[in-house]
Amino acid sequence: MSEVVRFTREGEIGVITVANPPVNALSQPVRAGLDAAVRTGLADAAVQAMVLICDGATFIAGADIREFGKPLAEPSLVPVIDTMEGAAKPIVAAIHGTALGGGLEVALGCHYRVAVPSARVGLPEVNLGLLPGAGGTQRLPRLIGAEKALDLMVQGTHVPAAEAQQLGILDELIEGDLKTGALAFARRVLAENRGVKRASERPVAPVAADFFANYEAGIARRLRGFKAPFHIIKAVEAAATLPFAEGMKREAKLFQELMSSSESRAQRHVFFAEREVAKVPGLPKDVAQREIRSAAVIGAGTMGGGIAMNFANAGIPVTLLELNREALDRGLAVVRKNYEATASKGRLTAADVEQRMGLIRPTTDYADIAQADVVIEAVFENMDVKKEVFRKLDAVCKPGAILATNTSTLDVDEIASVTQRPQDVIGMHFFSPANVMRLLENVRGRKTADDVIATVMTLSRRIGKIGVLVGVCDGFVGNRMLHQRTREAMFLVEEGARPEQIDKVLYDFGFPMGPFAMADMAGLDVGYKVREERRKAGKVEKRDSRWIDQIVEMGRHGQKTGAGIDRYQDGRTPLPDPEIQELIARCAREAGVTQRAIGDQEILERCLYPMVNEGAKILEEGIAARALDIDIIWINGYGFPAYRGGPMFWADQIGLKNIVAAYRRYAEQFGAHYWTPAPLLEKLASEGKGFYDL
Ligand code: 3HC
Ligand code: NAI
Repeated sequence: MSEVVRFTREGEIGVITVANPPVNALSQPVRAGLDAAVRTGLADAAVQAMVLICDGATFIAGADIREFGKPLAEPSLVPVIDTMEGAAKPIVAAIHGTALGGGLEVALGCHYRVAVPSARVGLPEVNLGLLPGAGGTQRLPRLIGAEKALDLMVQGTHVPAAEAQQLGILDELIEGDLKTGALAFARRVLAENRGVKRASERPVAPVAADFFANYEAGIARRLRGFKAPFHIIKAVEAAATLPFAEGMKREAKLFQELMSSSESRAQRHVFFAEREVAKVPGLPKDVAQREIRSAAVIGAGTMGGGIAMNFANAGIPVTLLELNREALDRGLAVVRKNYEATASKGRLTAADVEQRMGLIRPTTDYADIAQADVVIEAVFENMDVKKEVFRKLDAVCKPGAILATNTSTLDVDEIASVTQRPQDVIGMHFFSPANVMRLLENVRGRKTADDVIATVMTLSRRIGKIGVLVGVCDGFVGNRMLHQRTREAMFLVEEGARPEQIDKVLYDFGFPMGPFAMADMAGLDVGYKVREERRKAGKVEKRDSRWIDQIVEMGRHGQKTGAGIDRYQDGRTPLPDPEIQELIARCAREAGVTQRAIGDQEILERCLYPMVNEGAKILEEGIAARALDIDIIWINGYGFPAYRGGPMFWADQIGLKNIVAAYRRYAEQFGAHYWTPAPLLEKLASEGKGFYDL
């Protein structure tokens, strides 16, 4: 028998055990081993039933994603599952941890499924731009109906065991030892003569004639650009309308289409990149981390409240400090309102709300945060105020406490310099709303200690975030690149593109919203203040496009004032405003810019290529260690479409030499100031390489 799959016998029950750490993925040896083990059990006259169980932390978590994109080594999974399902002796899947993707498909090919209550099951292939390709789209609808099966596959949900049992995916939950319970279950199946129950032999419960068309219409907008959800619908429709064998053929064809699609290639890249970001190059793996048992947040404003929620959600007590009682009460009221909104959607119980509120301890006294293991400062974005706070933290916090700042624009090293312990100071740049957005830019200062970085990277994950390590510079990675896009978008408008045209180009590219719709929503005054500060600090753009600032100066701050770039009917519906068109035309005249019709391709290139170019500079300067760090930041913080893999991955697909060529064209048209390619971009392009060849 193979090393990764063992066959043993416990009386009349054959036990097949998979042992392929870390997640028992279905690599070729596992597939071959499963096939051999089932055949052994079938050939052994003493075996009357079989139990399939896994060693380690989890049941089979899916196909081995590392094998994707390479020629498939036999046997493939489908015939292995066919052999299992076709067996005349009952097979029971015994699930702990997660049965995902191909793992759940193996279990669906078994005749019975039992699980421990903590287990989760699901078909999350959609997150890799794929569909379940080993019978999942055909067997699951036969067990739980087309609609539930679609919900599960289109959302890629990990379903908790109790719910999976209710749905009909699991036959029984096992309290106590899984193997003992599964063996007892198998013996009961034999004693009661329940025989083999094959999912493939069941019909799919009938659905209305227009069910699939309606389902597709229901997700069309939200999931635009993704291919897999729509292919999943087609596969389930096949399950509902064709015989099982025909449905399997259709599933295989749709699966192959997705496997060779650029969308899935990008999403698979994102899957691994999201795990790679946690591994910081150059950071010793064995660095001892600091223990985080309690936290404190300074400032209970927009960001501070959300940051505190992240800790409470993770069960870490957090002290929230404000200037005075009123500000504290205001902040806490917002937090409570947020939790109650979640509870009203049924995603938290009233008791959960109280438990989480109970973990947030309000104070106005610095003495109360002296014992915190990590402190995150989220006060006004003002260097003097921040320095004042850090001096106090330095005076009161216990030795070894991590002192973090949530600043989005200020120099972390300068903030650290007012303390006697700059090695303990780091940036933790959350994104708004801080309780929702998954991205966390962790900003390493010049003196930040390795164990502080390692601890904060681990802590990020513990509080449900994707932490990406970046260095100190103006705007860090995300906002620094965004600045490039914003600037070009403003120029484009001045040159004659309409704001809604630019929004549409970027929306169609896959961003959730265009930059101008976003600006109106967030409030135009926010960007205005930032630009004013920059001007005051002497950071003047060579070409300064003022039209948007003039809109702000008219008192039009966006949706919240009923008008910004657009006018808002009923507070939300945008209507382009001729008055603003005139204002833009006047600004163009004053700046000596002749307006013209601008094509969508130019808009896309001028908005995105400068971001890529800035990304190249960021890599050259070591602000981000790898292209994948930049990609994960843009996907999780700025809505860059995952099916394009992030700006740097996308640039590699476009071909860097094509981007450099566009830079040369635009340099001729607009001058070299904004259109000189970064040395790294130029070098890679001339070598025919991409950012991922670095
Ligand atoms: N194939 C190969 N490697 C995998 C893998 C898989 N299916 N799933 C996880 N890994 C690797 C990770 O890359 C990571 O490797 P590293 O330590 O070298 O970075 C290691 O296993 C541990 O993974 P996590 O860090 O994610 O561990 P967690 O404990 O947080 O999560 C998990 C475990 C829930 C199983 C999570 O890894 C996961 O969601 N995995 C993917 C599940 C999935 O998408 N399955 C479907 C695959 S596609 C498929 O089955 C096609 C079929 O229909 C034919
Ligand atoms: P805010 O103005 O909503 O909240 C700041 C809070 O800090 C106020 O409640 C104020 O009373 C309190 N405060 C001020 N000085 C204090 C002091 N000395 N001690 C204790 N509390 C004090 O500001 P917001 O938006 O929450 O921003 C906070 C920080 O987060 C800033 O550094 C900002 O740059 C950063 N940030 C903001 C984002 C946003 O979208 N709002 C996104 C990412 C970072």
